[in-house]
Amino acid sequence: MTATDAGDLTWFQHDRFGMFIHWGIYAMAARHEWVKYHEEICDADYQKYFDHFDPDLYDPGQWAREAKAAGMKYAVITSKHHDGFCLFDSKLTDYKATNTPAGRDLIREWVDAFRGEGLKIGFYHSVIDWHHPEYPLDPIHPQRNDAAFQEANTGRDIAQYRAYLHGQVRELLTNYGKIDIMWFDFTPPAKSHVDWDSAALVTMVRELQPDILINDRIDYPEAADFVTPEQYQPKGAMERNGRKVAWEGCQTLNGSWGYHRDNLNWKSPEMLVKVLVDSVAKDGNLLLNVGPNARGEFEPRAQASLAAIGEWMRLNSRAIYGAGPSDLLPPPDCRFTRRGDRLYLHVFSWPMRHIHLEGLAGKIKYAQFLHDASEVKLIEADPHQEAQNTTMGGEAGTVTLEVPIQQPDVLVPVIELFLAD
Ligand code: GLC
Repeated sequence: MTATDAGDLTWFQHDRFGMFIHWGIYAMAARHEWVKYHEEICDADYQKYFDHFDPDLYDPGQWAREAKAAGMKYAVITSKHHDGFCLFDSKLTDYKATNTPAGRDLIREWVDAFRGEGLKIGFYHSVIDWHHPEYPLDPIHPQRNDAAFQEANTGRDIAQYRAYLHGQVRELLTNYGKIDIMWFDFTPPAKSHVDWDSAALVTMVRELQPDILINDRIDYPEAADFVTPEQYQPKGAMERNGRKVAWEGCQTLNGSWGYHRDNLNWKSPEMLVKVLVDSVAKDGNLLLNVGPNARGEFEPRAQASLAAIGEWMRLNSRAIYGAGPSDLLPPPDCRFTRRGDRLYLHVFSWPMRHIHLEGLAGKIKYAQFLHDASEVKLIEADPHQEAQNTTMGGEAGTVTLEVPIQQPDVLVPVIELFLAD
């Protein structure tokens, strides 16, 4: 194994849709997982969240069932976020769930539950650490403006922190069975791969888990299996150095990764389905985040979004799993995904009566709505036909789909086109 060996992306690019979970003691503050940074909270003042963390309703089996019902095939959870708090029972720190009122390794139960539901699993592990005493201060540290703290902490030794980081990753990849994804986050401008010794880190990861996939956030692009656009959708398929690269967009349900009680920036289920479709149409995946609350539950708004996506996936997942982009140019307000001889037309904005498909005349054997397998009529008007009153003009190469006036009652209607050989 070397650092630049690559993982096999076959399952990843087939499955397309996963759940991201940001959970930690910041869920108690309930105002973003960066609350310690935003409010410049010191360790002593942040301690109250540690002391009171008691997720009495935590039931990872329920989470796993909701993820599965939403159509998600894999899940990635925060083993440690930037605040340094560990959900797992690390032997290398006391700053872990085991020592809170929760009193146990919350990752162990999570792994068992998600694996039990047949989902693949991954760990998000922050390489940034706002709690470790040897993590060298930088401009994104909560105490960045605290002169006395800065002065007292000039001698921090990255080598010690690095050993801690590597040691924890070793624990995560040794103690929990087969792990499918290692999701590191992230290298701030003041740090680099040298600080993490990314080459050695990746070599160790691949030695411990030969089939694992690794993301791209430790400033070591040679070793990344996939790249991770966050909070935006790329324009098209993604490339690195002129070569196509696998990608996974990560998106929030509202405006925060960690549970944020008062953030009302909820994306509609329709928008979320469109983001998923748009990703697959551009050869990407979607890792959609849920921030459970501090009692250990998904809040009702998150559950409602997941359930709505799940209902869409129940009827339309054929256009997602195993599907990817098409070279054909979709009509306005639509996306194409393709799987073998099936082309899927996802209609983002419902048109009046007709959808014109340029270049597909004679190339479609049959068309139907995916949600109910009802036929969609194909019209190939005579190319010499001029538009006249109620008669549509013809155009060489174009085939037209005749659709009902009312949009079918699905978030994003999909028309399945069976391509001629
Ligand atoms: C970021 C943030 C963060 C979140 C993550 C998800 O880089 O620091 O809080 O965990 O992205 O992709």
